[in-house]
Amino acid sequence: MSQRLESATNIWITGAGTGIGEAVTRALARGGHRLILTGRRSKPLEALCELAPERMVTAPGDTTSKKDLEQIASVLENQGDLHMAILNAGTCQYLDVTEYDSHVIEQNIHTNVIGTARCVDIALPALRRTRAKGLPATLVIVSSSAWWFPFGRAEGYGASKAALTYFAHSLRADLAPEGIDVVVVSPGFVKTPLTDRNDFPMPFLVSAEDAAERIVSGLAKGKNDIDFPKRFTWTLKLLSNLPQGLIDRIAANMARKGT
Ligand SMILES: NC(=O)c1ccc[n+]([C@@H]2O[C@H](COP(=O)([O-])OP(=O)(O)OC[C@H]3O[C@@H](n4cnc5c(N)ncnc54)[C@H](OP(=O)(O)O)[C@@H]3O)[C@@H](O)[C@H]2O)c1
Repeated sequence: MSQRLESATNIWITGAGTGIGEAVTRALARGGHRLILTGRRSKPLEALCELAPERMVTAPGDTTSKKDLEQIASVLENQGDLHMAILNAGTCQYLDVTEYDSHVIEQNIHTNVIGTARCVDIALPALRRTRAKGLPATLVIVSSSAWWFPFGRAEGYGASKAALTYFAHSLRADLAPEGIDVVVVSPGFVKTPLTDRNDFPMPFLVSAEDAAERIVSGLAKGKNDIDFPKRFTWTLKLLSNLPQGLIDRIAANMARKGT
């Protein structure tokens, strides 16, 4: 068993107000951890803090804004040693290829890649200070398994999550000598406000609570890559190993049917 969530831990979580972030926040609050919650809307964060007001604080802000992150950094500093940062804030904008617009690509990349990278600007120095005291320090990046297969309309979202996963794995290599873990979370479909907008079938959809349970137990077990549900991620892994010509035919067929 890993030391990661063994004792009460100071954790910063972004995108905490809804969906996966909210469910992870609830699960960690039940576990007795001290939590710093970020999102652009304050209200959902304040409501969550009522779960354990003595152990939870809000640090609202836009994760793409350097100015907001400066303010969040001072909240993190006031809370003492930071043991874990869960960078979960994200968006999913689909492209309509009949009205191709690179703005859609930009929006996905800006929030999912640039926003997360900017969060690392403030998380990494804090995690380094904790690690220097010989304590465990973990950076968790919530990516997606969606980019493992070229789904139609997902040009922007898939590209952003592919970039984010590469960013995380590369960071893992560079931070290994310092003993700072970098964990990549790659969910399949999870029922949240983000996916409630989807107008296509979502195979093996799991609840946000189920997703949170898998994320928190994976972290506690010391896993560095957490993907779920396995029936979905194994299928994608299998498909991604097919010859490219076959992948292209399956992907085009799925895109035509809108699945
Ligand atoms: N649901 C799925 O099937 C699924 C699958 C794979 C991966 N994921 C990933 O899981 C993460 C959480 O998604 P979710 O499904 O739980 O969706 P969600 O309910 O929409 O949660 C996203 C959260 O991120 C926050 N957020 C978005 N942009 C932000 C910004 N610029 N600054 C600060 N906070 C921001 C939102 O709060 P505010 O609007 O208040 O800022 C919201 O609470 C995302 O990274 C998503 O890509 C989801």
